[in-house]
Amino acid sequence: MKIIITGAASGIGRAMAASVAATGTTDKPAELLLADRDSEKLGIATDEIYSGHAKGTVKIVARIGDLADPELPAALVTHAKASFGGLDAIVSNAGVLLPGMLKDLSLENYNLSFDIHARATWLLGKAAHPLLCESRGAIVATASTASEHPTPPFGTYAASKAALVMLIRQMALEWGPDGIRCNCVSPGPTVTGIAVGGMPLAGLQEKIEKGIPLGRMGSAQDIANAMMFLLSPAASQITGANLLVDGGLTTTLMQAAFR
Ligand SMILES: NC(=O)c1ccc[n+]([C@@H]2O[C@H](COP(=O)([O-])OP(=O)(O)OC[C@H]3O[C@@H](n4cnc5c(N)ncnc54)[C@H](O)[C@@H]3O)[C@@H](O)[C@H]2O)c1
Repeated sequence: MKIIITGAASGIGRAMAASVAATGTTDKPAELLLADRDSEKLGIATDEIYSGHAKGTVKIVARIGDLADPELPAALVTHAKASFGGLDAIVSNAGVLLPGMLKDLSLENYNLSFDIHARATWLLGKAAHPLLCESRGAIVATASTASEHPTPPFGTYAASKAALVMLIRQMALEWGPDGIRCNCVSPGPTVTGIAVGGMPLAGLQEKIEKGIPLGRMGSAQDIANAMMFLLSPAASQITGANLLVDGGLTTTLMQAAFR
């Protein structure tokens, strides 16, 4: 598979990169363009993935950059084309939890949420459209259960993830006739490096897990597994979907109302 993964230096993107790398063979290596703004972590992730797989089964191109830069998505696609000669899939995964209730939120954080979650995904898809037409490829974006549930104190996190979900559905509609499938995965609380008010989400783990029917936060691998399914031939009739991977958290609304 020839793939671009953003936010690949840690957490979900890093697990997804390892999952795709594991599909490579010497006859058909997995070819990954891994993008992130964190150069140190991206270097470590790249080294670990190379060292975990047999020589010649994986080719990785690491690209440092900030997806708040509107020029970066097209540059990633150009880089992937030059390196791999084509593209089968995009995982638009980079994301941030920026604090700020709406009454206090800065314009900068408002714009950043929408730019990183929604705009960068659109620009990646737009730039990659000709290559994905050739491969009849697929796009998966990392949304969130927040896309349907307002989430204080992150004033625009939920709204920008909701925008992302609708953008992917629009892509599914417009690009279905080109054979391109476009879907979201929506993680619930997942143990990764993403931080809440400076505290890693994992630090709130015990508290959060009390409210999850399956009794645990997801792992990055749980989310990568769902992404691998959506990119696989087993999902060839699925487009415009938003697959929840939340341990049942979003089923608890009525239970909470009656508590
Ligand atoms: N962890 C959770 O509980 C959870 C729940 C729902 C959705 N998500 C979403 O999952 C995705 C991955 O997050 P994660 O949990 O793996 O967290 P993470 O912090 O481990 O990974 C996010 C990665 O994105 C990169 N990144 C952030 N902003 C960037 C930018 N502007 N340009 C380039 N790279 C950037 C970071 O450097 C980091 O490597 C995000 O979109 C997040 O919103 C996470």
